[in-house]
Amino acid sequence: MTTASGRPVGPVGGFPAARPRRLRRSPALRRLVADVRVSPSDLVLPVFVKEGLDAPAPITSMPGVVQHSRDSLRKAAAEAASAGVGGLILFGIPASKDARGSQADDPTGVVQSALADVVAEVGDALVVMSDLCLDEYTDHGHCGLLTAEGEVDNDATLERYASIALAQARAGSQVIAPSGMMDGQVAAIRGALDAQGFSALPILSYSTKYASAFYGPFREAAECAPQFGDRAAYQQDGSRSAAEGVREALLDIAEGADAVMVKPALAYLDVLRAVADAVDVPVAAYQVSGEYAMVEAAAAQGWVDRQRIIIEQLVGIRRAGASMIFTYWATEAAAWLR
Ligand code: PBG
Repeated sequence: MTTASGRPVGPVGGFPAARPRRLRRSPALRRLVADVRVSPSDLVLPVFVKEGLDAPAPITSMPGVVQHSRDSLRKAAAEAASAGVGGLILFGIPASKDARGSQADDPTGVVQSALADVVAEVGDALVVMSDLCLDEYTDHGHCGLLTAEGEVDNDATLERYASIALAQARAGSQVIAPSGMMDGQVAAIRGALDAQGFSALPILSYSTKYASAFYGPFREAAECAPQFGDRAAYQQDGSRSAAEGVREALLDIAEGADAVMVKPALAYLDVLRAVADAVDVPVAAYQVSGEYAMVEAAAAQGWVDRQRIIIEQLVGIRRAGASMIFTYWATEAAAWLR
């Protein structure tokens, strides 16, 4: 048999022609041969809780996401758990901020109270994680303490992180997730936790985190935009090769990280693949606020198929090597992925 142009179709030189389409003919065949799947239990829902709110407050740049009150947070946690979501990660927004971020390790601070609420609500139905950073708590909006010259002071910040880790551990956090990109932060936190009887508490490190414009909407959500400068002196530079991302992950594992993360996801899938190939611990990817906002904005215009584009991205992140995905769509997507 030949095509109209005379090119042979079918057995050529004794071999059958390749027909990859055979396995795509029906939904049942496609489902049978699929080998990249995302399960609800792979998803982690980031949630914001703001001190003093008595009703949830919408976040303009993240339609569908809110700053929770303590009550609405409990409800959202219960919904995520019953959807089968694997975990949630808590971000707190305190009523008052200062240069040291004092509310971050205050035992009565917003995250500590909310952690206790959520753990009481969902127990072990999903994993309750706490983001550990200072930017939501400092009046200058940087992720650490500042020197007199206005630089972020790495080693002074480590002492704050160690203290915050203990406050979160005492409030019931089930995974500590440091996101501040200070050198040595995992070792400092591990040391403090071990010394105070929390040697069984895991650390999921935001090991490989890039200075990114994709965090824009988060800074509205968490009210943490830097008041001067940017985070480029501590977060990674995307113009470096993926090897630097791998190095950061390996350093954190050597310091005691139980799992690592690549963040953002979409623009760093090559880094995600490189990290996943290089390490033997679970690798998380964080689909960040800007990734969420872009899809929601386009979908609201009717320009993209919202559900399909969300699933396609989650599958892509999984295919690139993520064993868990932090996503603001976790609860909704869990229902589609069951
Ligand atoms: C820092 C932190 C940020 C995000 C998570 N943790 C913001 C930043 O580094 O500026 C961003 C998450 C998102 O954009 O969804 N505490």
